[in-house]
Amino acid sequence: MRRKIFLLALFMGSFFACKDNTGNNEAETTSVKEENKKDAFEMYQMSEMAAFMEILAAEHSKMKNTIKAGNAPDSLRFAIDKIFTANFTNPEDRDAKYLEWAEEFKTYELKIIADPENAKEHYNNAINTCITCHESKCTGPLTRIKKLLIK
Ligand code: HEC
Repeated sequence: MRRKIFLLALFMGSFFACKDNTGNNEAETTSVKEENKKDAFEMYQMSEMAAFMEILAAEHSKMKNTIKAGNAPDSLRFAIDKIFTANFTNPEDRDAKYLEWAEEFKTYELKIIADPENAKEHYNNAINTCITCHESKCTGPLTRIKKLLIK
């Protein structure tokens, strides 16, 4: 019974991944719990867009390391146009503002490749666009996204 409630809690937490859960310190401190949460999430519910966003987060973490090491990525290792085409958990998220920010994001991403001399600046502009869009659309991962900025 206890276990069922626990799993249900994990499931609900994952279902509302965009919700701001900054008050939820317990979940943040225990990495094992986080792992479980992730499993539950992938098992039950992940929209095409959420899955794409997870790829974006992982790839930007790698890009951050590349750029910090003084190099520039020579290509984008994800299908950038998915930001326009993937299906959302909440289809109403895809409004005019969303499309504007998505376009801005794509512009900076392409500049990282086209103008490697200024890769860091373009990269940070791109991450700031992730942040702007998320402040309005999906506050849950904001802390995680802010860590991607190169200081
Ligand atoms: C134009 C708006 C926009 C931009 C730009 C954007 N996101 Fe998102 N992001 C969203 C929306 C909307 C969702 C919710 C998707 C869904 O649940 O279907 C989301 C979801 C996520 C999630 C949660 C996925 C999950 O597991 O539920 C993460 C993590 C994420 N984004 C990271 C990023 C990162 C990192 C960037 C930039 C490199 C970025 N996002 C750029 C709008 C945006």
